[in-house]
Amino acid sequence: MRITIIGSGYVGLVTGACLSDLGFKVVCLDKDEQKIRALQEGEVPIYEPGLKELLARNRADGRIRFTTDACEAIEQGDVLFIAVGTPPAEDGSADLGHVLSVASMIGRHLKSFKLVVNKSTVPVGTADKVRMAIAHELAHRGMPTHVFDVISNPEFLKEGAAIDDFMRPDRIVVGVDEGIHKAKSQRMMSDLYASFNRHHSRTVWMDVRSAELTKYAANAMLAARISFMNEIANLADALGADVDHIRRGIGADNRIGYSFLYAGCGYGGSCFPKDTQALVQTAKAHGQDMSVVSATEQVNARQKMLLVERLIARMGPDLTGRKIAVWGLAFKPNTDDMREAPSRVVIRSLLERGARVRAYDPVAGQEAMKALQDDCVGQDHLLKAFELAVNEMQALDGADALLILTEWKNFHNPDFEGIKALMRHPYILDGRNLYNPQALFEWGIAYQGVGRRNALCQSLSFDRPNEPVLSVSMDEESLMAHA
Ligand code: UDX
Repeated sequence: MRITIIGSGYVGLVTGACLSDLGFKVVCLDKDEQKIRALQEGEVPIYEPGLKELLARNRADGRIRFTTDACEAIEQGDVLFIAVGTPPAEDGSADLGHVLSVASMIGRHLKSFKLVVNKSTVPVGTADKVRMAIAHELAHRGMPTHVFDVISNPEFLKEGAAIDDFMRPDRIVVGVDEGIHKAKSQRMMSDLYASFNRHHSRTVWMDVRSAELTKYAANAMLAARISFMNEIANLADALGADVDHIRRGIGADNRIGYSFLYAGCGYGGSCFPKDTQALVQTAKAHGQDMSVVSATEQVNARQKMLLVERLIARMGPDLTGRKIAVWGLAFKPNTDDMREAPSRVVIRSLLERGARVRAYDPVAGQEAMKALQDDCVGQDHLLKAFELAVNEMQALDGADALLILTEWKNFHNPDFEGIKALMRHPYILDGRNLYNPQALFEWGIAYQGVGRRNALCQSLSFDRPNEPVLSVSMDEESLMAHA
């Protein structure tokens, strides 16, 4: 079986690299000539651990190649994966422009039976539109309109762990509809994923619409867990409780489980924000109300501003003259992806309030710079107050506060002595709950996590730089109990 992947973006490249590594002959097609040329020369346009090596190995062995020639690529593949982007349209619904133009292109070049597999995250009903677009072109060419099948095989890849997710899937969702090609399509998909089903079947078979909705439901459920925990964390702060104890307390219930219960400064990325919005729009279009998903989005938008609000509560709304250090810019560690990253909202807001911001991210610095330029178009004065540091300690020089926005490993065990020495005010607002509040208290660093008994946070004297006032707003007895 030969594979053609249409769209050499994140999902397409990971899928292509992994399938070629499983021994299939893969052609990756993209209309972006520059991107294809770079890929042919061994450059990988995205940062994903292990991807470059996987592509290099399989390219050298002749199992994967890259082209802009649609006619040849479609001719080559028995299975055609559609893996192009579905960016949000203005109303939040998914823009199907790329998917449907690929469908028409397939219809223009198709000569014999092809299994068209939708990998892009698309609203329910898209497979029907893809079918129609292909059939329309075939009819136009005077060809029989049933020489193909369209099925759904959504991806569940996490950025930063995508290769591992693909190679060790917990489940493979495949939606195939009734019709003359059903048995053949199922057989082809079974052969494609045979190596993952050897010991027990990981494939969950269903109809196409259910498969399309499964992807949205999974992402909305995960996003809802995060927003729920963020609300619990904010309440914990108000009550003097610790969300990390609560996380462990509820995670032990195996109906709940431990994952995706980490409170923080909000979720970002290319999937959760886009997919929750698209789901709300799909529901609206069908007269349904997705209150839980809408609330998930609202809570997340608020949560992204939490650290700024806390800073303002201490320093006042005018941050002119304040130097703020930021550690972590990417929406999560092990990626340079800045899409919907909380850091964008936070930094823009700090700049608008007059602060100077110096930020460090081990990988995403340049991407962050581009993202901020987009966010601050026509406001060059804001950008002038932003700079990238060469390492985490340089970001701290003379800073009044440190905001931690991404939990990169390098930030887990910092030199607290150095932090105290470098900052004008040793004050950490930890949006990813990396540190033990008690330990920070003992270091003499004012510290606020998200839902981490912030009553323990030392008051900070902004009149006397570098001198946190070693008193706490909690009564002595509770403090002793905590210690
Ligand atoms: C997600 C899904 O996990 C994946 O299955 C789907 O295919 C695409 O969307 P991804 O966007 O790569 O993957 O990131 P993920 O690791 O899921 O994290 C998403 C966001 O949630 C990040 O901003 C992360 O910081 C945040 N998050 C995650 C939390 O705030 N708390 C958690 O407990 C987990």
